[in-house]
Amino acid sequence: MIQIDSVTKRYPDGTVAVDELSLEIPDGSITVLVGPSGCGKTTTLRMINRMVELTGGRILLDGADIHAQPVNALRRSMGYVIQNAGLFQHRTIVDNIATVPRMLGWDRDRARKRARDLMDRVGLDASLAKRYPYQLSGGQQQRVGVARALAADPPVLLMDEPFSAVDPIVRKVLQAELLRIQAELGKTIVFVTHDIDEAIKLGDMVAVLRTGGKLAQYAPPDELLSAPADAFVEDFLGTDRGIRRLSFFTSAGLELTTAPIIAVDSSAAQVAERTKASGAPYLLLTDTDGKPLGWTGPAAAAKGGAALSVAELLPHGRPFVFGKESLRDALDCAVLSPTGWAVAVDDGGRVVGVTSQTTIAEAIRGAHAERGAAGSPSASAKAAAAEAAAVDPAIAESKAAESKAV
Ligand SMILES: Nc1ncnc2c1ncn2[C@@H]1O[C@H](COP(=O)(O)OP(=O)(O)OP(=O)(O)O)[C@@H](O)[C@H]1O
Ligand SMILES: [Mg+2]
Repeated sequence: MIQIDSVTKRYPDGTVAVDELSLEIPDGSITVLVGPSGCGKTTTLRMINRMVELTGGRILLDGADIHAQPVNALRRSMGYVIQNAGLFQHRTIVDNIATVPRMLGWDRDRARKRARDLMDRVGLDASLAKRYPYQLSGGQQQRVGVARALAADPPVLLMDEPFSAVDPIVRKVLQAELLRIQAELGKTIVFVTHDIDEAIKLGDMVAVLRTGGKLAQYAPPDELLSAPADAFVEDFLGTDRGIRRLSFFTSAGLELTTAPIIAVDSSAAQVAERTKASGAPYLLLTDTDGKPLGWTGPAAAAKGGAALSVAELLPHGRPFVFGKESLRDALDCAVLSPTGWAVAVDDGGRVVGVTSQTTIAEAIRGAHAERGAAGSPSASAKAAAAEAAAVDPAIAESKAAESKAV
């Protein structure tokens, strides 16, 4: 665990970049520092590996002050990744990645073997090993940066806006890869970004900082979305908080029906029977392997099996992977579906059922109820209610109602 304990950084010119910041960064998870430009994110990150020396408070790594060990030993236990990767331009990719192992005295072959293993792990083709950084795309360079930081297998990874310089599509891929690598390696990652969506996607815990290096809120992303501590956090989170929060609710418990599903090789009698049984004007047609082909229109029922013409189908839209994707995905599928029904598939893309907007809305209400109305009241709202209770029970009641309504 990394404990940041009342840490302050005052630069020599008097700028207070970080002010009495306290955070407990748990092991084996991703903690994101997010906030507007100049709020002290980079300063905080660099104080952890002592590239910037703090001027107040203390930082503990596994219970020991970071000043208790030589700075080089401290930095060896912490990989560091920056925007634009910061690669050595005169070294090949493989030698860039092998930098730290070589510094640690590994022989060249062993260090290069490790580097090649890591290239594979971060999704870089082996054919790029002998190239120089300028011969790689921005996204590829960023992967090299991650591989280099992992080379000596440090328990801690510090990442400062590592994906900010790449386009949104590559960025999404890199984010997904980081989550995949993290699931395998379980590092303690401190990740800096100014992008709240990136913070919500990657963070197990998210610290929102405000200008002047003050902590505005420290919470899991789900809680941040449901109960922002104040107007600053709420504003920083932006719109659609409710919809975005649905990405933390699994689709696993969603009620599905198979009644309107029918295979393409069904007889007219079967189509008529299905139409009657489902009571729906639409049937979802699947191929013989169970994969969705599209929805039949209302005319299909009237015309019987003769209407099962693939050419006349309405598109089934994007299906969601049942149990793997979230209620947000399911809702999105239903909203985009021409019939208002979302199609649920298994890992292999075969239909397991369909579900309506109404059923999804019920599941959302159920998920909210399970987690405490529209989310547990934030710590500050709870504290305010407790404080008011000491003064006047009537105020306490109205405050509690208010915090629930967040
Ligand atoms: N060496 C320095 N001397 C004086 N002030 C500094 C120094 N480095 C940073 N600052 C100031 O400290 C504050 C925090 O800077 P920092 O780089 O930590 O912000 P940041 O949150 O990483 O911003 P960004 O999102 O733009 O990267 C800013 O006001 C900055 O101008
Ligand atoms: Mg910065």
